[in-house]
Amino acid sequence: MSEDFPRKLYGRRKGPKLSAHKADLRLTLLPQHALNIVPGAGPGTYFTTPVTEIWLEIGFGAGEHMLALARQNSAIGLIGAEPYESGVAKLLTHMADDPPPNLKIHEGDARAILTALPDHSIAKVFVLFPDPWPKTRHHKRRFIQSEMLTQFARVLKPGGEFRFASDDAGYLAWTLERALAHPDFVWSAKSPVDFTVRPAHWPPTRYEAKALHGPPIYLSFQRRDKIVP
Ligand SMILES: C[S@@+](CC[C@H](N)C(=O)[O-])C[C@H]1O[C@@H](n2cnc3c(N)ncnc32)[C@H](O)[C@@H]1O
Repeated sequence: MSEDFPRKLYGRRKGPKLSAHKADLRLTLLPQHALNIVPGAGPGTYFTTPVTEIWLEIGFGAGEHMLALARQNSAIGLIGAEPYESGVAKLLTHMADDPPPNLKIHEGDARAILTALPDHSIAKVFVLFPDPWPKTRHHKRRFIQSEMLTQFARVLKPGGEFRFASDDAGYLAWTLERALAHPDFVWSAKSPVDFTVRPAHWPPTRYEAKALHGPPIYLSFQRRDKIVP
């Protein structure tokens, strides 16, 4: 599938030269978990074992969060997108000992998955510590845009969840503003503890551990039940 999107949202695809082990895993293990995107296909068909629902992680980095979820929830199909080759390679080293059958990887732009997914076909979408693009002239590169929230609302099932986390105050305010203004999402936080403390069922991520810009904040939005056709 073409990845010719009008605007590039990520930095580099290539990092330092891969070790022989990682290069080997890319040739042997990655093909077994690579997502072969079929436009309009129900995402359950991507898995060889039966799955009850599908969760999508956008920009999984080295994949710690996604791998932990796949191991904790064997009945859930996990799909992750990450264009950075070294990140994907690192995930492969983490999973090589015991590769979970319920995990699929797209080494590329998450938008290719989103545009291919049928309406209301996934239960959760995670965007965790995305690149903040702090300069005003780069804000258009932020993954979260109002149009992207509309795309999330299209692919999420009613009552589905969109999770967002960041340590960048500017990107947090940006996302909150757009999600609160979006007719299909509800933010159910009742008190600061609901967004300043990572819920126990969210595995940590590598970027979160660094939290270079400020304290991490965790936002969980629910897709409204009502589907407006
Ligand atoms: C700051 S890192 C965070 C990685 C990971 N979520 C974590 O918390 O450790 C953001 C990641 O998003 C990825 N990314 C950026 N644009 C993307 C896109 N359009 N589709 C998928 N991943 C993307 C980048 O390659 C990068 O690895």
